[in-house]
Amino acid sequence: MSAVPQIQRLTVSKIRARKGGDPIVCLTAYTAPIAHLLDSFVDLILVGDSAAMVVHGHETTLPITLDLMIAHAQAVMRGSTRALVVLDLPFGSYEQGPEQAFASAARAMKEAHVGAVKLEGGQRVAPTIAFLTGRGVPVVAHIGLLPQSVQAAGYRTTGRRRDEWAAIIEDAKAVADAGAFAVVLEGMAEPLAAEITKLIRIPTIGIGASANCDGQILVTEDLLGLTMSGRVPSFVRRYADLNKVIGEAVAAYAADVKARRFPAVEHTYALKQN
Ligand code: KIV
Repeated sequence: MSAVPQIQRLTVSKIRARKGGDPIVCLTAYTAPIAHLLDSFVDLILVGDSAAMVVHGHETTLPITLDLMIAHAQAVMRGSTRALVVLDLPFGSYEQGPEQAFASAARAMKEAHVGAVKLEGGQRVAPTIAFLTGRGVPVVAHIGLLPQSVQAAGYRTTGRRRDEWAAIIEDAKAVADAGAFAVVLEGMAEPLAAEITKLIRIPTIGIGASANCDGQILVTEDLLGLTMSGRVPSFVRRYADLNKVIGEAVAAYAADVKARRFPAVEHTYALKQN
C-alpha cells in the first residue's frame, strides 16, 4: 500500500522561485504551539540554534546539541502543516567536514522529517554545501555575522567598512554556486546586503541586514517581547510585550492564591446509589 501524503508543505523549489518576487516570511520556532501559531502566516520556520539562548537560557548558541535540535524540530513539525521547516545544524555537528555534515543532516531529515538544514559560513563551508546538496539535502546558507563564531569574532555588524565587502560577496557567491537554495544575511550593512541580493540568483533572507532582501527572519520571541533580559537587538521591531502580559497574569494568579480567591468548584460527582 502506498502512503498518501496528508500535508502539503511549501517546497524548497517554491521558496527558491520567490527570488526577486513576493517577500519570503520566515520566523523561528522551537515548540509545537508556537509553530502552530506561525504556520498560516509564514513560508519558512527555522528551528534555530538560538533555542540554546531563548529556550535553554544559555549565553550563546554554542551549547545546544544535535539531539536537542532534533527534539525541537520534531515538535515544530507536529505543530505545523504548511511552512517549510528548516533545522539549524548546531555548532560541532558539521565543521569537521562534509561527511560529518551529511550524517547530521541525514539524522535531521530521518528523525524529524525537516525539509532542509541551515549551516553557518561562506567559502569555508562551500564544499560541505556542495556535498550535501549533491546527496539530496537542501541547504540554507548563513553569512555575515555568525553567532556560532562569537568566541572568535564577537557579535559585530559586517560590511560597515568597504574593504570588507569583497570577501563577503565572495562568500555569498560561493554558497550560491555550491547549491544552497537560500542564504541568511545576518548583521550586515544595508548597502552590502542590498548589493548581494542583486548579485546572486538565490533568495537572500535578512536579519539586521536590509529591507531589500528577498525575505526576512527574526527570532519569534524577540518580536513578541518574550525575553529573559527584556532587551532585543536594535533592528528588531517589537510587535507585542509578552513579558508584561505574562508577568501581569502570573502576579494576578499569585494574588488570587494568597487571597484564597477561586471560583467554587462545582460538585459534579453524583452520590453512588445502592
Ligand atoms: O538560530 C537562529 O535563530 C538563526 C536566525 C536568527 C537566523 O540562525
